[in-house]
Order: sequence, then C-alpha cells, then structure tokens
Amino acid sequence: MKHSILAFAMLFGILTACTTSQDNTSMEQNETLEVLKTRRAIRAYQDSIPDRALLDKVIEAGTYAPTGKGLQSPIIVAVTDKETRDYLSRLNARVMGAQDDPFYGAPVVLVVLADRNIGTYLYDGSLVMGNLMNAAHAVGLGSCWIHRAKEVFDSEEGKALLKEWGIEGDYEGIGNCIIGYPAREAPQPKPRKADYVYYIE
Ligand SMILES: Cc1cc2nc3c(=O)[nH]c(=O)nc-3n(C[C@H](O)[C@H](O)[C@H](O)COP(=O)(O)O)c2cc1C
Repeated sequence: MKHSILAFAMLFGILTACTTSQDNTSMEQNETLEVLKTRRAIRAYQDSIPDRALLDKVIEAGTYAPTGKGLQSPIIVAVTDKETRDYLSRLNARVMGAQDDPFYGAPVVLVVLADRNIGTYLYDGSLVMGNLMNAAHAVGLGSCWIHRAKEVFDSEEGKALLKEWGIEGDYEGIGNCIIGYPAREAPQPKPRKADYVYYIE
C-alpha cells in the first residue's frame, strides 16, 4: 500500500512537472506572439491575387477586431478588381503629388473606413487595420498600411466610388491595407527604442 501511494505521488509529480514545462515551452513558442513580432511592412509584391479563401480568412480576422462598445463602426472594402485598384492608387498618389504606385504593386487593397458618428471610430478602424496586417502575415501573405484613405474618400472621386459601391453613411477612410505575396524578403525591424516601456511596480 505504502509503495503504491509513493508511486502515485511520484507519477503525479512527474506529470505536474511535464505540464508546467510544456506550458513554458508553449509560451516561448507561441505562434500568435511570433506572428505579431515578425510581421513587417512589405513594399514589393508579386502580381498574382491570393485565393479568395485565403483573403477571406484575413478579412474575417479584421471583422473580429475589438470596437468601442462593440458597435463595429468600421467597414472593409476588399478591392481585387485591377481597374479599381489602379484608380485608388492614382487617387492616393495624387494626395501626395506623386506619380509612383503607392501600393507597391500589391494586387489587393482592403480599404478600411469607419463611421464618423461613433466616438471610437478612429481607434476601431485602426484595430481592424492591425488585425488585417497580422492575419495576412499569419497566412503567409505580405501587407502594409498605406495612408491617405481619409483624403481619398473625402474627395469627390472617393465619395463617388462609395456611392458606386452602394455604401451609404458618414464614412471616413482610415487606411488601405495592401495585400499580396511578397516579391522579396521582409526587411529587418528597427531595434525597439530604449524608453518604449515603463514598468510601475
Ligand atoms: C498609420 C500608418 C500609416 C502608414 N502609412 C504608410 C504609407 O503611406 N506608406 C508606406 O509605405 N508605409 C506606411 N506605413 C507603414 C510604416 O511605415 C511601417 O509600419 C513602419 O515603417 C514600421 O515598419 P514595420 O511595419 O515593418 O514594423 C504606415 C503605418 C502606419 C501605422
């Protein structure tokens, strides 16, 4: 009897130790944390449009971003039509007075807009952008936030596009998440600044 109690205690100890060490390992190798850390802004793309199923996974992740009061103020417009993509690129370049393609050749643009009437719209839309970029990286796609969506969709041409797409409401452009297969290796991240984090313990 004594022996079996001892054997049970030993087995319990080993199992507990294994579980603890497994937990530590999974913390160190956590895939989500790895994705968050290794995503980079991609600025060169292949022409091919990723499969719709893959894009849908990315877009779905965007729709699950947290929003103030859960009001889901943002919308996502997924543009894969080349003519529209090129037009958006020209409107975006015009804001900067530039000629080059600000979308770096990416074949897909996920435009995030958010309802100005909801107090947290800017934060909500930005979190959607973050989810989209991280989700793209998680499924092996490149992405980059391209700015000036506000100026583009505040312009007459931008408003006309929203109308053409059947989007009614007081939407402000938050960002363009360009997506595609990277055409070259991701750049290395800059070192994080020394005073990024303050611990008050
Ligand atoms: C609000 C915002 C606007 C950005 N606008 C642009 C842009 O218009 N063009 C561009 O090439 N990158 C843009 N970026 C990408 C940043 O330059 C990039 O995230 C930054 O250099 C850090 O690089 P990383 O994303 O690889 O960590 C933008 C990023 C954010 C968050």
